[in-house]
Amino acid sequence: SKKIAVDGRISRYSRRRKRVCGLSLSATALNYKRQTTNQNSIPMLANHRFTSLPAYAQLQSHYETVNQQHLRDLFAEDSERFTKFSRRFEDILLDFSKNRITDETFGLLLQLAEQAELKDAIGKMFSGDRINQTEDRAVLHVALRNRSNTPINVDGKDIMPEVNEVLDRMKSFCERVRSGEWKGYTGEAITDVVNIGIGGSDLGPVMVTEALKPYASENLRVHFVSNVDGVHIYETLQTVKPETTLFLIASKTFTTQETMTNAQTARQWFLDAAKDEAAIAKHFAALSTNSKEVAKFGIDTENMFGFWDWVGGRYSLWSAIGLSIALYVGFDNFEELLAGGHDMDQHFRDMPFDQNLPVILALVGIWYNNFFGAQTEAILPYDQYLHRFAAYFQQGDMESNGKSVDRDGNPVDYQTGPIIWGEPGTNGQHAFYQLIHQGTKLIPCDFLAPAISQRPIGDHHKILMANFFAQTEALMNGKTEEEAAEELRKAGKSEDEIAKLAPFKMFSGNRPTNSILFQKLTPRTLGRLIALYEHKIFTQGVIWNIFSFDQWGVELGKQLASRILPELQDDTPISNHDSSTNGLINSFKQLRKI
Ligand code: F6P
Repeated sequence: SKKIAVDGRISRYSRRRKRVCGLSLSATALNYKRQTTNQNSIPMLANHRFTSLPAYAQLQSHYETVNQQHLRDLFAEDSERFTKFSRRFEDILLDFSKNRITDETFGLLLQLAEQAELKDAIGKMFSGDRINQTEDRAVLHVALRNRSNTPINVDGKDIMPEVNEVLDRMKSFCERVRSGEWKGYTGEAITDVVNIGIGGSDLGPVMVTEALKPYASENLRVHFVSNVDGVHIYETLQTVKPETTLFLIASKTFTTQETMTNAQTARQWFLDAAKDEAAIAKHFAALSTNSKEVAKFGIDTENMFGFWDWVGGRYSLWSAIGLSIALYVGFDNFEELLAGGHDMDQHFRDMPFDQNLPVILALVGIWYNNFFGAQTEAILPYDQYLHRFAAYFQQGDMESNGKSVDRDGNPVDYQTGPIIWGEPGTNGQHAFYQLIHQGTKLIPCDFLAPAISQRPIGDHHKILMANFFAQTEALMNGKTEEEAAEELRKAGKSEDEIAKLAPFKMFSGNRPTNSILFQKLTPRTLGRLIALYEHKIFTQGVIWNIFSFDQWGVELGKQLASRILPELQDDTPISNHDSSTNGLINSFKQLRKI
């Protein structure tokens, strides 16, 4: 039983035996690996059973105590709570003191990370091991922003020269387009860039170009087309001219139906005006790993900016997929973004877990997800420029950790990735915060805000921040029924009215928040913030013992859509699906006749 199979799995028998023996799993698993891993075996992430980690059971019984405690009291009891439970990294402050944790909780959570062999997993990611085991790929978005240029080997070859070569090409392309040296088919300079992509080939560039608007060139606009709904490309093409538009076809695989459909429509629209296929080279570039498909589409591979299979789609904004960002804000600022990501990578790789921002965020998230039964997490940026941040990490987190099979191929019997959602403050306050404050669900929230606004106008930023601080304080303290009654009394209400109204006006409080304050939303800080959340997701995936870098769950819908598409080509009723799907398709056909 003491063998690791070639695919790196620890046999189920030996896992069970370890649990029965009740030994410390981290020590056992380490010894186990030392004894059994031979030089030829493929290094993989160690397997463990999340709910059998010793710290898991300890956290479970500890939860019974902490669950009864109110944050208000935890703060009253300990004047050092903020100092104890806040950390700084460069210009970023993480205050996690408004969480339902004690010293003991934090200690046990840190043990959970140790026992899940997080350190080993981090090392493996950074050294290019094929930790995306179901796709047999390394996970190296960290290489794309490896500004120190230390060699990173994949299959025995340093990948940094290739990374730098693409960055150099992106740089000179950006300079030519931004300076006006790059001309369209009529000799005019480019004024508009249209990125056509979806998922990771869209959300990152959209989020970052919105976030870094203050750094943008006035001469170049960017547009993003993602939805296969023709409305999206139609509306975009209304605003641009073929002579001055550059299309970036962004697709890792270059086979994604939505992107290819939009790209063909853009190509036809362009050719209708240019009437010359040779002009395509001046107006279309490809951002992809698939040179064969790029050539088939008719884009000169000279105009192709490549990346590699070890870049996950939702982690690709740091690669050639970020070309729209670099064009919009300039290559220097793009490099600053990369440098910010690299800062956080080093912090994540090198800092002890109790000082490590991504690890702390991940552990606090696990505390609510797996012990309090929280289903969702809200990301609430108090910075209008970050208005797509939550949407971006909706894919980042949910596509990564939305898994129900563990790394050993067994169904999990515990919760994995949370539902991620959010909108910028203060808009959210007037929409959904009611439920966060007084609803029946526990919703851990991350509040993010800059100390310095990019657009300092009057008192706007202080008003914004007063709301930020007020919300986290209100969620933590709440308002007792007595306090509510007293307020009503002061407002002149009768005792009868007070008795009726007070229950509705009280707030239970004890609702947890993280506050992430940073100095200003510069490219570097944004890079740090994105990498912070990326590594949080990685950490949680490691601890939950799931694979965070595949996304098989999106395949079934794609397969069925391509099967259904031919059935929509004429009016013939169909009957080969279930009655609902048949009914819907046939009604769709009928409705189109009206
Ligand atoms: O939604 C599934 C997915 O594969 C994402 O992971 C990816 O970001 C997106 O589709 C787009 O894929 P591609 O870049 O290959 O077009």
